[in-house]
Amino acid sequence: MTHQFQFNYFNPTRLLFGPEAMSALAVLVPKQARVLLMYGSGSIRRNGAYDEVMAALSGHALVEFAGVEPNPSLETLDRAVALVRQEQLDFILAVGGGSVVDGAKYVACAAGYAGDGWDIVSGRQPVTEALPVGAVITLAATGSESNGGAVVTSLARQQKKAFFAEAIRPRFAVLKPQYLVSLPDRQLANGLVDAFVHACEQYLTYPVDALVQDGHAEAVMRALRLLAERYDERRSLGWLQNLMWAANQALCGILGVGVPQDWATHRIAVELTALYGIDHGRTLSILQPRLLRETIEAKRAKLEQLGRRVFDLVDPCAEDVIDAIETMYRRLGMPLSLDDAGVTDGEAAATILAALRAHGLDAFGGHAGIDAAMTARMIRRIC
Ligand code: NZQ
Ligand code: ZN
Repeated sequence: MTHQFQFNYFNPTRLLFGPEAMSALAVLVPKQARVLLMYGSGSIRRNGAYDEVMAALSGHALVEFAGVEPNPSLETLDRAVALVRQEQLDFILAVGGGSVVDGAKYVACAAGYAGDGWDIVSGRQPVTEALPVGAVITLAATGSESNGGAVVTSLARQQKKAFFAEAIRPRFAVLKPQYLVSLPDRQLANGLVDAFVHACEQYLTYPVDALVQDGHAEAVMRALRLLAERYDERRSLGWLQNLMWAANQALCGILGVGVPQDWATHRIAVELTALYGIDHGRTLSILQPRLLRETIEAKRAKLEQLGRRVFDLVDPCAEDVIDAIETMYRRLGMPLSLDDAGVTDGEAAATILAALRAHGLDAFGGHAGIDAAMTARMIRRIC
C-alpha cells in the first residue's frame, strides 16, 4: 500500500546567514522590546558576538543573564525566569550554542507559567504560548536556532528531557560562520556528528518512496560526510559555513516531513549525558552504531540506500554501511564506547539500564521493535 505523506509544516524562523548577518539585528528585535540577553560562560566575548550584539542593540532596553551551562539546568534557567518577571522583560535573545538557545526557549515558556517549570519539560503542562525568542548561533550542531525543540536537565531529578512546541521556534536566527572560528576541534566534531545523526533519525527507517525527503536527507548527510573527509580544512571559512548550513538543515524539520522517523539514539543518549556528563554529540557516536547493529534487519534497505547514495559504496550490505559510519566517527576522533569517553564506572550498564527503565525508555518499540532485551544487549556492548 502506498505510504501517504501527511504533514503540517510551518517554519517561521527568518534565517540571516553570512558575514553581514548581524546588520539586521537592530531591526529584528522590536524597538520597544525589553530584552533578556542570555549567554553561556563567556565564549561570546571572545568571538566578537557579544560586542556586535551590544552595538546593534545599544538603543534597546536590555538585561543580561550569563552562565547558562552546557546541557542547561532547570535550576539555572529558573533564575532567568525570575529575572524576566522582576524586570518585566518581553523578548529573549539567545547568543551561543544549542544549550543557550534551548535555555532561552524554556525561559520564554516558563515566564508565563506559575507552576513548577518541569511540568513544561515533562509535557504535563502543554505550551501554547511563549515570549518571542531570537537566536544568534555560535556553534553549529543542534539546529535549535530554527526548530521547536528544547532540551533541559533537572539536576534534582538527574534527568535530561526534550520538549517541543511550535510557539518556541525562534522568530529569527543569525548564522554568521565567523563566530565558529573560536570553537575547539572537539565542538566541531561533536556538531558534525550531531547533525549527521539528526538526518539519520529522520531517514534510517524503511523505504516509503519519499523521493524528495530522501533526497534532502541524502544531500545533507553527503555534505557532512564530505566535511568529515575534509576535516583537515576545518579551520577554513568554507568548511565552517558548510557545517553551519548543514547542521541547520538537518534539524529545521524539513527532512522528516511525512516520513517515518526513529529517534531511538537520541532518546537513549540523554541518559548518558544526565549520568556521566558526556557531550551530546559524543553520546551519539557511542550509541548509534551499536543501536544500528541491533536493529539492522528492520533498517537494512535504508542502510544500503545510505551506503550507495551518501558513502558511494558499490553494492554495499548494511553491515558495511555501519562500518563506514564508524570509520567516519573515528576519523573525527569521536568515542565509540563509554571507555573511549573516559567513563570507567564498572557498574555503568546496570546504572544506565535502571535509568532507562525509570524513564520508560528501555523498550520503546518503534518500527524496529526495540524491546528490553535488545536495549540491554546494546548497552552492555557500549560499556
Ligand atoms: O558556555 P559557552 O561560552 O556558551 O561555551 C560553549 C560550551 O562550553 C562553547 N561554545 C559555543 N560557541 C562557541 C563556544 N566556544 C568557543 N567558540 C564558540 N563560538 O561550546 C560548549 C558547548 O556548547 P553547547 O551550547 O552546549 O553545545 P551544542 O550547541 O552542541 O548544544 C548541546 C545542547 O543542545 C541539545 C543537547 O542535548 C545539549 O543539551 N540539543 C538540542 C536540540 C534541539 N533544541 O533541537 C537537538 C539536539 O539533538 C540536542 O539534543
Ligand atoms: Zn542531537
